[in-house]
Amino acid sequence: MKFFIDTANLAQIQEAHDLGVLDGVTTNPTLMAKEGIKGEEAILKHYEAICEIVDGDVSAEVFSTDFQSIIEEGKKLAAIHPNIVVKVPMIKDGVKAIKWFTENGIRTNCTLVFSAGQAILAAKAGAAYVSPFIGRIDDSNWDGVELIAQIAQIYALQGFKTEILAASIRSALHIVKCAEVGADVCTCPLDSILGLLKHPLTDIGLAKFLEDAKKM
Ligand code: E4P
Repeated sequence: MKFFIDTANLAQIQEAHDLGVLDGVTTNPTLMAKEGIKGEEAILKHYEAICEIVDGDVSAEVFSTDFQSIIEEGKKLAAIHPNIVVKVPMIKDGVKAIKWFTENGIRTNCTLVFSAGQAILAAKAGAAYVSPFIGRIDDSNWDGVELIAQIAQIYALQGFKTEILAASIRSALHIVKCAEVGADVCTCPLDSILGLLKHPLTDIGLAKFLEDAKKM
């Protein structure tokens, strides 16, 4: 399973990269706005900076919602770097645009996916990635990990090549559960990635080893 970091914060991207386990990055308009990135030039430059840190896929989301504008915006984003994957929302014009991008050699990540039906449509249109938002599903009292398992079963049965990118991860446990049920990628906040490190018995064991090392 690949690890992507879900942020537009360059310091956090660098920290995850330095850990040696980072395979890519996802962003969205909320995450870009949080970093104070405004205007087309600044947006393109910021994606360039991300691509300089990480040698892996970087999802850059379109803001447009009509077919023609999604295509124009996506073409500009894809031209930044070969690792850019155009992130397109699961709406009717988005599905049409994903199909167009696929036929024109531009890879896409279909975002805002909350059902198996939507995941089937994204795969049929040829999305490179499908992003089910598992944390937001959990927030609405459904089971996000169960949706990942369902999509994984359907994709395997039907031979769909679209990679399942578990998004809206809230914890290290989410990552473990997604790995168990067959997610291809988890895109996570830095805290959730670092959360995988933690176990109290590791801390207790290390303290004892360090104490005993003084006696050597
Ligand atoms: C996916 O690519 C999105 O950027 C992200 O995972 C959304 O997460 P949130 O529900 O924590 O905003």
